[in-house]
Amino acid sequence: MLGTYTRAWVEIDYDAIRHNVEAIHKRMGKTKIMGIVKANAYGHGDVACAKMLIACGIDFLAVSSVDEAIKLRKADIEVDILILGYTPSVLFDKLVEYNLVQTLISLEYAEMLNDYAQKNNQLIRAHVKVDTGMGRIGVVYNENHKDYEAIRKEYSLANLKIEGIFSHFPVSDELKEDSVSFTKNQIALFNELLQRLKDDQIDYGLSHLQNSYGIINYGDLGYDYCRPGLLYMGVTSLDSIETNYQMDLRPILSMYTSVSMVKEVRKGDSISYGRHFIAPKKMKVATIAIGYADGLPRLVSNKGLEVLVHGKRAPIIGNICMDQCMIDVSDIEGVSIGDEVCVIGKQGQEEVKIDAISRLAQTINNETLSKITSRVDRLVKRK
Ligand SMILES: Cc1ncc(COP(=O)(O)O)c(C=O)c1O
Repeated sequence: MLGTYTRAWVEIDYDAIRHNVEAIHKRMGKTKIMGIVKANAYGHGDVACAKMLIACGIDFLAVSSVDEAIKLRKADIEVDILILGYTPSVLFDKLVEYNLVQTLISLEYAEMLNDYAQKNNQLIRAHVKVDTGMGRIGVVYNENHKDYEAIRKEYSLANLKIEGIFSHFPVSDELKEDSVSFTKNQIALFNELLQRLKDDQIDYGLSHLQNSYGIINYGDLGYDYCRPGLLYMGVTSLDSIETNYQMDLRPILSMYTSVSMVKEVRKGDSISYGRHFIAPKKMKVATIAIGYADGLPRLVSNKGLEVLVHGKRAPIIGNICMDQCMIDVSDIEGVSIGDEVCVIGKQGQEEVKIDAISRLAQTINNETLSKITSRVDRLVKRK
């Protein structure tokens, strides 16, 4: 048991990452992988994941903010790092200091960045973001409006070293006809744009477009990089989402805690805040040391979510508290203080998938994972 010294912990399985990276390579041919490690690698632990990805041969990472990137640099991570989101102007100095690549949010933003670089006699590394349909950031290049001039202007800014161009999919996870045609049209728009730049002798640098579902459903499209987060973590947004290709994935994250107390409760006794669980009979109840401030959503309380103890399934009963919750262990022999409890992952022959939590919390695995909080220790499991 890796977590003997901690209250609640996740284990990251290095061999599973390696396996998933291989599965992505198999699907994507020569397209290289840019590992997405934003939001603490969706709760998995950014530094640990970054190091494991680098050990798997990955040479480009992406984060959402400059502080996430600096954290990686301070952990001696030297590969290229793209900041996918907004860096406020007061932090522009960090881009060169930490050798980071900034996404150009818009032409206005690119000009601000260029002015700063010019004043400071710097050359700032950047990738152009193109909005082919996500409607979030990037210069618009869609069916209704193709702002090619803005993109050309970005490439002409003398103090920006533009090394790449990318776009993003909003519905690559959907196999409905209109979503597929929307995504295919985004691909066509992106290709058309790259061709126009080529025709104008603009060296656009590295191209990248596909997130995890873009990889699963659309395969190798010939770009330089793809940008998976979820896939190397070995999960999809939800198991119920249909795909047109079956990736062989292994979840890299398991989550555990320990039993802190076991007691008998009598018929009519109530459990937890709100008294939403009243014992219907004499029961054996264990308290476990994990709660919503660790990332176990309060919304899944009293919905039958199970955890594993001694390799057996035990339902959570009563409201999940901030740091603790209670489980029914009436049918499990010999449960005692200190026993390991598996909240996500496998124990014995049984498994609790992250999907079970996400479904009951009416969300997707991306959110459930990224809400595992910092006080939960991250431990790396190697064979
Ligand atoms: C721009 C961009 N690229 C790639 C990703 C990775 O997405 P996924 O985890 O679905 O692969 C994200 C995540 O939201 C993103 O914002």
